[in-house]
Amino acid sequence: LRIAVLVSGSGSNLQVLINAMQAGALPIEIVGVISNREDAYAITRAKDADIPVAALSHVASGKRMGIKTFETHASAQLTAWQPDLIVLAGFMRVLSGTFIDSMPVPMINLHPSLLPCYKGLDTHQRVIQAGERHHGCSIHVVTAELDAGQVLTQAVLALSVKDTTASLQARVQTLEHQLLPWTILLIAKGVIVLNNQASHHQPDYL
Ligand code: GRF
Repeated sequence: LRIAVLVSGSGSNLQVLINAMQAGALPIEIVGVISNREDAYAITRAKDADIPVAALSHVASGKRMGIKTFETHASAQLTAWQPDLIVLAGFMRVLSGTFIDSMPVPMINLHPSLLPCYKGLDTHQRVIQAGERHHGCSIHVVTAELDAGQVLTQAVLALSVKDTTASLQARVQTLEHQLLPWTILLIAKGVIVLNNQASHHQPDYL
């Protein structure tokens, strides 16, 4: 499965995918990484692994690159790389419906909450404030409506009275590092079938 990864930050989830690819533990080839920030550590991780990178900074020469310009560049790059799947892993910019609908392959996003609860930002803080007993992360199909596409997989943890925003962030991130490769494996094996997915795989159990 050829995958392109969109990132904005540290890229710890990208690193998990790089490690799995290099170890032969996942049937994927990361064909390129797009960052909307030039200072994202994820870029260093991709370069260290010899993966092509497009750093499309949204602030170029003091001017904020409009989402349209970013999307035009991203589209051209994706067309060149020809991924089978686009993975948003810590990508913090909201994409337009036009861009999302124009993608010829499925796009999935990793979100740090048990969707449909806690869409948007600051999920850990809101979960603590609400006194929730459970929290976790979700992988969902990207649609024009933010964090609202079909949920594919989730990982759950039970809150402890000692949890803080920082501890929850760390605990959820540990879950993300399990959930993302596992979900991509299920997609690659044809266990999870996505719309507009080129399907040449049959589940092993069929
Ligand atoms: C993850 O916690 C993700 O859920 C959130 O941003 C973080 C990305 O982490 N949206 P990383 O860049 O993969 O380290």
